[in-house]
Amino acid sequence: MESDTLPSEVSMKTIDHNTITEVALEQMASTPDSRLKEIMASLTRHLHAFAREVDLKPEEWLEGIKFLTAVGQKCTPHRQEFILLSDTLGMSSLVNALHDRRAIEASTKSSLLGPFYRQDLPTRKLGESIAGKSNAPEVTLYGRVTNAAGRGIPNASVEIWQPDEEGYYDLQKHDPSEMDLRGKFHSDAEGRYHMRTIVPCGYMIPMDGPVGDMIRAQKRHGYRPAHIHFLVSAPGYREVVTALYVSGDAHLDTDTVFGPDASLVVSVEQHDPRSPIPNLPSLHFDFQLAAAEQQGSGRVGADPSQIMSAPQSAGR
Ligand code: BEZ
Ligand code: FE
Repeated sequence: MESDTLPSEVSMKTIDHNTITEVALEQMASTPDSRLKEIMASLTRHLHAFAREVDLKPEEWLEGIKFLTAVGQKCTPHRQEFILLSDTLGMSSLVNALHDRRAIEASTKSSLLGPFYRQDLPTRKLGESIAGKSNAPEVTLYGRVTNAAGRGIPNASVEIWQPDEEGYYDLQKHDPSEMDLRGKFHSDAEGRYHMRTIVPCGYMIPMDGPVGDMIRAQKRHGYRPAHIHFLVSAPGYREVVTALYVSGDAHLDTDTVFGPDASLVVSVEQHDPRSPIPNLPSLHFDFQLAAAEQQGSGRVGADPSQIMSAPQSAGR
């Protein structure tokens, strides 16, 4: 065949291990949603760069696809294996840190929401106990919710959830629909809150799924240091998803999901005269909320049942 009558495929771009990235990006350039376009282009560039860096083999990529499939299959309305994966890869902590960097005022640092958050937890009065089924000794947890200038925020919502004294959340029990060790409190006119609970102990993240297999393959211990989760919010302020970590825990520095920050470590005081229930040991912490420029969520995750029931179709 003469060269001036060559078939049209001659004008096709050659796809090789380098040009594939630009070819894929060109095709995605038609995305109307500019943020989706930016995120997908960057993800594609980094994903391709990763494959080139490790010289990824077909059987290895297939292993990865099998792994992600298993992660999805492990998810139920009571179990979120993808959040667990995000947490154990450090991705949740990274997204939290980026979120904190955007705050316009000083604020309590974010820490992991984790896979055990539940919405619609029981509203309780200040001073009530969230420990309905535990025999462990009680402690008082108290403090204030303030703005960046240290002024108390009245009627701030303080949601709390934690594991029991053996390290299990209610969602991990025989009947995961029963709630325990959870509550929603509202601060008083001066921004003060207090409640009774038990001192949590550290625990191993759920290891009976594909994320557990990954942790074992990496010879990581899988433990989280003892902590209590909080979601603190008030109208006009940026919500804070965080956790308080109990001082002295052996895994504070090697948390499997990279949660603790020195500013979030609290100690159990045996005799605290400032405590609203001074005859009990106590934990004290003041939460600081930054003003919100715009309403937005600080949650890297959600109640697992919400993730299952709300499938997203990107950009449509
Ligand atoms: C948690 O603290 O509830 C948690 C966070 C990440 C992974 C597993 C558990
Ligand atoms: Fe936790």
